[in-house]
Amino acid sequence: MSQGPFVKDIEAIRRRAREHLDKGAVTKNYGVDLETAIKLLNEALATEIVCTLRYKYHAVMATGIASESVKAEFTQHATEEALHADWLAERINQLGGKPNMNPEGLLSRSTAEYVEGDTLVDMIRENLVAERIAIEVYRDMIAWFGDKDSTTRIMLERILEAEEEHANDMHDLLEAHDVDQMEELRAEGERGAQALERSSPAIRQVPAGPVSGRAGGVATSGNGPQSRH
Ligand SMILES: [Fe+2]
Ligand SMILES: [Fe+2]
Repeated sequence: MSQGPFVKDIEAIRRRAREHLDKGAVTKNYGVDLETAIKLLNEALATEIVCTLRYKYHAVMATGIASESVKAEFTQHATEEALHADWLAERINQLGGKPNMNPEGLLSRSTAEYVEGDTLVDMIRENLVAERIAIEVYRDMIAWFGDKDSTTRIMLERILEAEEEHANDMHDLLEAHDVDQMEELRAEGERGAQALERSSPAIRQVPAGPVSGRAGGVATSGNGPQSRH
């Protein structure tokens, strides 16, 4: 009952496994072109390294209203992008390739750009763009590996899931901070007007009772900013 062609196949598999020990995890039935697979994974690795660096830079440089929560988000994303880079490098090594960590040419291998951004909103927007690029590239890679290398595909699916969460986080922050920035500009405008009033006696003389008028204005806008939108 235990004899038959299936046993013969097992023996052939065992023989091949011993013959090609130098190929590590790559067996005869590995389904995709190995060179292309390693090239694609190295491009993804470069992308993850660039994304890690960009998020780290943004975490340090983020300033302005509620920047602490944004810094925390940037820092968390940097940590997760670095983890993705580790997974990709490990997989490249398992496939017998060499993970390319060389800083030289890093940006040209990466699909995402390294954009610093001048304001908090710029930074958030640039990260959203980079995440959307990463999502598109990972979707294509997942389709390419398909069932022919399910280990790599499953790893890429885990990364894609994280990138979709990152994009969603950046989208939410962008919506929140675009509004915050408008509020900040308005508040700055009012503070500036008050300072100008205090420093310039000529302006004081224009309206009758400028102090009470200005105080009333501040109280009104402070209680109901939504009414202005
Ligand atoms: Fe990532
Ligand atoms: Fe990401």
